[in-house]
Amino acid sequence: MRFGRDRPRGATSRRRLGSTLGVNDIAIDLGTANTLVYVGGEGIVVAEPSVVAMDTESGEVHAVGAEAERMIGRTPATISAVRPLRHGVIADFEVTEQMLRYFIARVLDRRWAHPRLIVCAPSGVTEVEQRAVEHAALAAGARRVQLIEEPIAAAIGAGVPIEEPVGRMIVDIGGGTSEVAVISLGGIVLSRSLRVGGYEMDEALGHYMRGAHQLVIGSRTAEAIKLAIGSAHPLAEEMTFAVRGRHIISGLPSEVQLHSEEVREALRAPLREILLAITETLEQTPPELASDIARHGILLAGGGTLLRGLAKLVEEETAIATNVIETALTCVAVGSGLALEHYDRLAGSATAKRARASRSTTTT
Ligand SMILES: Nc1ncnc2c1ncn2[C@@H]1O[C@H](COP(=O)(O)OP(=O)(O)OP(=O)(O)O)[C@@H](O)[C@H]1O
Ligand SMILES: [Mg+2]
Repeated sequence: MRFGRDRPRGATSRRRLGSTLGVNDIAIDLGTANTLVYVGGEGIVVAEPSVVAMDTESGEVHAVGAEAERMIGRTPATISAVRPLRHGVIADFEVTEQMLRYFIARVLDRRWAHPRLIVCAPSGVTEVEQRAVEHAALAAGARRVQLIEEPIAAAIGAGVPIEEPVGRMIVDIGGGTSEVAVISLGGIVLSRSLRVGGYEMDEALGHYMRGAHQLVIGSRTAEAIKLAIGSAHPLAEEMTFAVRGRHIISGLPSEVQLHSEEVREALRAPLREILLAITETLEQTPPELASDIARHGILLAGGGTLLRGLAKLVEEETAIATNVIETALTCVAVGSGLALEHYDRLAGSATAKRARASRSTTTT
């Protein structure tokens, strides 16, 4: 199987190519932090935070995506802004369905209602969780739904020739999950999925601020600190960041200058868990595949791998060259989108995928 490049095509070519090539079908990277929608023949058309703001009494949706995200921690009592996914799986079925409906409706042009859908799910999801994703997508208007595993999609999106009999390691660190997978011949040979991702890093940072600076900060502030000065490995030039929050004792707004060394210290525990999953997976990898990985290096995908110095840390721990995929935030959606062209083949391999899923380990 060969995958073409992610080249946006115009409406004319959409008509010419017809629906057999997956044109007009939709691929969705339904992530804990971000949802990306790829339309066959066009490319990524939606990339928004996975947040829904709704009325707590009537259930009416007020906003979805970026607009809803701005409301987190700032809503009146009757509105709540929620992330319907936790650790890569659906935590609130109804809200997820509403969100999918909104995103699908946004890209659907009435002429081709009820598209076929590929939804990307973490490789560690259980069958019940898989069914929840499928049902939410069908309820949101899809005609058929196929799931694709996140590491496979990431590899396809990164242009890795996944069909070769060559072992490769992909590590995807998202908002709520990290996945370590060894792939070969288009499938997952072994994988480990843990419920630690970017949000756990933010939480660890919040915890640190309370303990070391008696400052209570919200989740968005914690993430902002991580993006501004967070790192996994010593920086050539360490940085500082002014953090505003509420002082635990006085209860008043307060500001502290936070050093990047402190942030690194605060992120140490979640990073350790991810590193352990990588080294343990390497230890369990059959020797031929392990030597392929040593030769080709480890590939990092997902927003969490954009943390400064992360590739360097992984490289130091494993002694294997490690690189962050250039399109770390979008490769899963692009890979799922490119897989639309092979929809029926993917459908045929669904059983094999389920069998594989039962072989993979999930650590909580
Ligand atoms: N430059 C950066 N440095 C550190 N972390 C980052 C950076 N950019 C994004 N992130 C983090 O990446 C995470 C989101 O990544 P991504 O969009 O890949 O997750 P997701 O696919 O929605 O989640 P999952 O795959 O777990 O369901 C967030 O926690 C965000 O804080
Ligand atoms: Mg993801």
